[in-house]
Amino acid sequence: MMQTQSAPERAAVAFLKEFGAAATHLVRAPGRVNLIGEHTDYNGLPVLPVALQREAKVAFRPRPDGMVVLHDVDEEFPPLEFEIGPAISPEAAGHWGNYVKAPANELARRFAVWRGFEGVLHSDIPVAAGLSSSSAIVNAIGLALAHINEVPVEARAFAELMADAERYTGTLGGAMDQAISLGGRSGCATKITFGPLRLQHVQIPADWSFVVADTGVRAEKAGAAQNTYNLRRTECEDALSRVIEDLVRADRVPLIPSSYSALLRAMPVDDVLALAEDVLEGNLRRRFRHVVTEAARVNEAVDRMRGADITGFGTLMDASHGSLRTDFHVSTAELDELTAIAREGGAFGARLTGAGLGGCIVALADRTTVGTVLETLVGEYYEPRKLTEDLDARLFVAVASSGASVQAL
Ligand code: GLA
Repeated sequence: MMQTQSAPERAAVAFLKEFGAAATHLVRAPGRVNLIGEHTDYNGLPVLPVALQREAKVAFRPRPDGMVVLHDVDEEFPPLEFEIGPAISPEAAGHWGNYVKAPANELARRFAVWRGFEGVLHSDIPVAAGLSSSSAIVNAIGLALAHINEVPVEARAFAELMADAERYTGTLGGAMDQAISLGGRSGCATKITFGPLRLQHVQIPADWSFVVADTGVRAEKAGAAQNTYNLRRTECEDALSRVIEDLVRADRVPLIPSSYSALLRAMPVDDVLALAEDVLEGNLRRRFRHVVTEAARVNEAVDRMRGADITGFGTLMDASHGSLRTDFHVSTAELDELTAIAREGGAFGARLTGAGLGGCIVALADRTTVGTVLETLVGEYYEPRKLTEDLDARLFVAVASSGASVQAL
């Protein structure tokens, strides 16, 4: 993960100004857009994200003591200073500093991590937009500390470590965001499977374009969206336990499955769904149906991408959005509207991306339709809402990028 390179980075320039000396290293960790497979990772089922060209970068210089002193290029975020240790007291809920303290706390719990750094952070990943701006910070800080303290970094193990670390912030997230930000590959989407974590890169056909469009409605990971997210996780666990209890009672399978993936290995998907229709009702039935059908869509989407079947892939994206709206209840009027506009503009499919309840959509176009999709989104969503300022941050074509790295300056 060590690279050398030279272009002056904003974070490095700001470091010089702030600390009166040059930074010695730059760490970068990308955000991500998830193409399909939403709310499946924490259920141990697959996802298909892409690492983005938008990144969190930290220019840093190791310190001889255990202090972390971090400034953000954006003055909206006040400077942060704390000492590394296994029980760091958190900032108030929602404070950006918790994404910095989280990896420091977890690394200190598990390794002899005692040296800190001074650094300047610069991120161009839109915040609270479903593009993993927070996990990019967690990864960047985690990698900086691992580098300084000579902690071994194997991408998969480190992704699991960083996913555990992020729970410090109160979100019971899965490991998708940390894994893709660390292990993404240029030009590829990555199918990630869990327990154990595995990454399979899938080349994106050359003429496919994934358009990322922000509703402008923030999905604050530490606010109401966090409660809904954590509640969904519990609902999925409850739904699974009830289905398993029924299997035990009826003595229907030789080995009792203990996870969604084991259940799907033990029985055909249609049987699993039929069983859930009998055993579950209301929202639990809906949550279960979303999780199981979404996992099947991810597997099919990988085949469609490998076969360059853009229509088939788009249809799966539409089905995913429908399921997130009607079964998982994490869409919003703006997300529904933006996906509809993208389709109207010629997209092959469109869906909300990330946890939902605000943030971005992702839409699939090809070389000939991408211009019209972008124009339609501008004309029918951004202009009427006067959201055209800083439009590049709200509306862009994803460039599938490589995962995080640390470089000497
Ligand atoms: C957030 C979490 C991920 C994942 C998505 C929903 O981004 O951090 O682990 O659960 O929501 O798919």
